[in-house]
Amino acid sequence: MKDIVMKPSILVARAVFPEVLTKLAQHFEIESNQADETWSKAQLTEKLHGKVGAFTTGTDRIDAEVLAACPQLKICANMAVGYNNFDIAAMTAAGVLATNTPDVLTETTADFGFALMMATARRMTESEHYLRAGKWTKWSYDMFAGSDIHGATLGILGMGRIGQGIAKRGAHGFGMNVIYHNRSRLDATSEAACKARYVSKEELLKTADHLVLVLPYSAASHHAIGAAELAQMKPTATLVNIARGGIVDDAALAAALRDKRIAAAGLDVFEGEPAVHPDLLTVPNVVLTPHIASSSVPTRLAMANLAADNLIAFFTQGKALTPLNA
Ligand code: DGY
Repeated sequence: MKDIVMKPSILVARAVFPEVLTKLAQHFEIESNQADETWSKAQLTEKLHGKVGAFTTGTDRIDAEVLAACPQLKICANMAVGYNNFDIAAMTAAGVLATNTPDVLTETTADFGFALMMATARRMTESEHYLRAGKWTKWSYDMFAGSDIHGATLGILGMGRIGQGIAKRGAHGFGMNVIYHNRSRLDATSEAACKARYVSKEELLKTADHLVLVLPYSAASHHAIGAAELAQMKPTATLVNIARGGIVDDAALAAALRDKRIAAAGLDVFEGEPAVHPDLLTVPNVVLTPHIASSSVPTRLAMANLAADNLIAFFTQGKALTPLNA
């Protein structure tokens, strides 16, 4: 008699590309959320109970409480490069492997960061709203005059892979003067490749014409840009956040935009998203997008495939491809 081999049981916590689900189904018994319901923490915990693996996204919080209720869990594969939804220390203590999706989204996210910076500096959203509202009746010399990108000083806070991608676009494509601040300084070769100069956070804030945030979220980076930091920026400067909500104090930013203490902002991420601070919705000089920086079709597919491949590699070869806490 042939032995019946049970496939490991996993949870796919959010809707995902059907072809990725089909690939996973060759290796796993799957409970999936293709309806993309919004689960509470209690619902996520209940669904995870008894599963050995999970395909998660940045919206699924895995912490000590969830882990304690799911002792069979061995791996959580996040479809995101950021992993602030994971309590890594708690996962390590519980013997649960965490993985993310680095590299595959770097260029797409850098493209978006640059696009958001340009849209912000050249007031694209504000001017489009004006046009759609039927207010455009004549040309005028200073209509929606913004600031230049070419030749300006690009400041980058957080100089990982995506930050370096933005720096290269600015330095090589637009002749920008690139400065950056990071927890650790890049080596000389990487600095030369980005034509970037390391400066203190204070100098970055004071000197940048366009400041782009690309640092990971942690307790240390919570409200890294608040009223005090905004006050140090030039009144003509723009601020772009494609990193994580919570890095910027959104209430302080809305006040600075309203009072024209900085010229404009472009935000793809928000503290408490998908909720957006109501004050940000009332100021005109801000471009708002719903956390889509990595969202091109090929890149989102590559991210989903990498998360799936992490689960498959872990259960078939005992080793994930992009572990965070191996
Ligand atoms: C990431 O990969 O971290 C993006 O923010 C998508 O969630």
